[in-house]
Amino acid sequence: MRVVLIMTTTADGFISKDPSDPAVFAHGYDELLFSEKTLEIGTVVMGLNAYRLLPHPFDGRLNIVMSTSPNVAEGIPGTLEFFSGSPQELIDSLEKRGISELAVIGGGQVNASFLVEGLVDEIYLMIAPYLFGQGLSLASGFDLETSLKLVDERRLGENAILLHYEVVK
Ligand SMILES: NC(=O)c1ccc[n+]([C@@H]2O[C@H](COP(=O)([O-])OP(=O)(O)OC[C@H]3O[C@@H](n4cnc5c(N)ncnc54)[C@H](OP(=O)(O)O)[C@@H]3O)[C@@H](O)[C@H]2O)c1
Repeated sequence: MRVVLIMTTTADGFISKDPSDPAVFAHGYDELLFSEKTLEIGTVVMGLNAYRLLPHPFDGRLNIVMSTSPNVAEGIPGTLEFFSGSPQELIDSLEKRGISELAVIGGGQVNASFLVEGLVDEIYLMIAPYLFGQGLSLASGFDLETSLKLVDERRLGENAILLHYEVVK
């Protein structure tokens, strides 16, 4: 499974102010890469907090929501599925269905739970021109020591930057 983390942060490394913040700052920058990459990959996984802030699941993609108390009734087969289990168990179950690529799209807890298990292969990081001073970091709640190799970087619009990393394993 190729696992790609796609995220927008402020210049000081925050993805939002708190778990209920819809991170509007990221939206303009997301559009520059997020749709293209996630449509290409086809399957996205997010945490329950991130999902609850969306107006609707992402069109044209299989949306998977991680939660320890999944609301299966809310699911729409092939479009919106809830998963209770570890990131590795999710990957195993997707592979059994013939899915070979997965985009991890936040929030901080889900990002961290994939990173801490060494399951992320690549990261597309959009750095938006904001400072928050405090908030949720890209990977929250785990002690990480993840080493990255920069494979590409480019400007996004006037003030943002895209960094493409491979995770060193
Ligand atoms: N800047 C950006 O690009 C960006 C992108 C996405 C989201 N965000 C922001 O991120 C924030 C939300 O992040 P967050 O860290 O608070 O929460 P989150 O990762 O979205 O969701 C956390 C919840 O997801 C479930 N979960 C997470 N990891 C799990 C795992 N490994 N196994 C099972 N369940 C798991 C748990 O739900 P249960 O309680 O049900 O167990 C947990 O309480 C929001 O403010 C949002 O706007 C920003």
